[in-house]
Amino acid sequence: MLARHKATMAIRNYLDNKGFVDIETPFLTKSTPEGARDYLVPSRVNPGQFYALPQSPQLFKQLLMIAGFDRYYQIVKCFRDEDLRADRQPEFTQIDMELSFINEQGVMEIAEGMIVAIFKKVLDLDLVTPFPKITYDEAMSRFGLDRPDLRFGLELCEVSDIVKDAGFKVFANVVKNGGLVKAINAKGCSNFTRKQIDELTEFASVYKAKGLAWIKIKENEWQSPIAKFFTDKEKDALRTRLDLEPGDIVFFVADQPKITNEALGQLRNELARRLGLILDNSFEFTWVTHFPLLDYDETEKRYQALHHPFTAPLEEDIEKLSSDPLAVKSRAYDLVLNGIEIGGGSIRIHSTELQEKVLNCLGIDKTQASEKFGFLLNALDSGAPPHGGIAFGLDRLMMLLCHEDSIRNVIAFPKTQKATCLLTEAPSQASTAQLQELAIKISKIEG
Ligand code: AMO
Ligand code: AMP
Repeated sequence: MLARHKATMAIRNYLDNKGFVDIETPFLTKSTPEGARDYLVPSRVNPGQFYALPQSPQLFKQLLMIAGFDRYYQIVKCFRDEDLRADRQPEFTQIDMELSFINEQGVMEIAEGMIVAIFKKVLDLDLVTPFPKITYDEAMSRFGLDRPDLRFGLELCEVSDIVKDAGFKVFANVVKNGGLVKAINAKGCSNFTRKQIDELTEFASVYKAKGLAWIKIKENEWQSPIAKFFTDKEKDALRTRLDLEPGDIVFFVADQPKITNEALGQLRNELARRLGLILDNSFEFTWVTHFPLLDYDETEKRYQALHHPFTAPLEEDIEKLSSDPLAVKSRAYDLVLNGIEIGGGSIRIHSTELQEKVLNCLGIDKTQASEKFGFLLNALDSGAPPHGGIAFGLDRLMMLLCHEDSIRNVIAFPKTQKATCLLTEAPSQASTAQLQELAIKISKIEG
């Protein structure tokens, strides 16, 4: 709590010095599209109608830019009804900011200065800036995740081209069907026991890997259930590509790109934990840039914004919006610390025409757009400055600064994994009188 207080003091001082104005935005508002489920609040005076608690102040801060407040910030609660994990709470705090007449570089410099000020104040540590940058594509290729932990090596390596004709049909078929075969060489770990390998296979299966193939490199042979399927030529190619030496064990995942990357990327982190490769006191930052603008939701059969629908596409990719939407890169950036996303933002769309075009890609037509975000589109129409910003998860930042492994440990009165408050026992039932006043009937309670 004391470190957190020091951090917020450092943030306020830094941003005040940079000309930012602290402006509060409403909690009783309309749904904001950050991708999670909303918390709804019933309105007594408008029976049958609901406010949504903000998932972030995204639209308000953009309106503030259009209104002419060139630099806004707020340390603000956000509310998201999502599945909880160690780094997710239903209510959490953002350090939210937005700037006019700015580009990616400008936002990053301001944000880095703020992070430096926080680390100086809380830990008396001098961070070196600028932080490294990596594109989304490179992060996925080398680390399998869009939030790479740069405290250790163990990089992923693609071997699809080498194994595409291999006798091991699992690999060959995956490549034939547009999938990826990637591997990690755990140097010097060929003494892993059957039990350890089984545990790692089980771990990879949590991320939907259908198996975890492995090869132990011994002095005179390759020990493995799959070694027999490779020709000498394929073995040579694998040896060179993966830098295989006696004493190593190499792990493979073959699947569609999403699964291969996620499973092997998570396995990389798990291996580093097990092998003690992570130094206690190191802070490795990286910006991740050039995210795709959209991804495709297989269940809902439509495109969705990877960041949020107000993120600008890269100028040179705009024309691909209609021809090849998935190839469009965005002007979004995340800041990652030790493998955890601590902040994310983007340069925004500031023209109505482009905003409508992107909404259209997302399956939101003109009528729906004006129903949902008419106020934003109108404001853009009246002349908006180029603008952009970022929001940091204060809880996550404090968790990392304090070497904690859950954000619950840096929040006063946090919620449990089941979104309950152990102290006040919220949520709880409402009285019949309250429900009547709100015109709400409870039809069925599960469990
Ligand atoms: P985003 O959704 O990436 O961006 O959120 C910003 C940062 O908030 C933190 N965060 C959370 N922390 C704890 N519990 C949660 N449930 C949770 N969800 C998110 C993360 C994340 O990086 N409006 C945009 C920002 C912008 O474009 O400027 C936004 O909310 O650290
Ligand atoms: P099998 O031929 O199913 O007995 O598998 C032989 C080895 O390949 C086992 O170690 C499996 O874990 C592994 N394996 C099976 N499917 C995959 C896959 N999709 N990716 C990586 N390894 C796999």
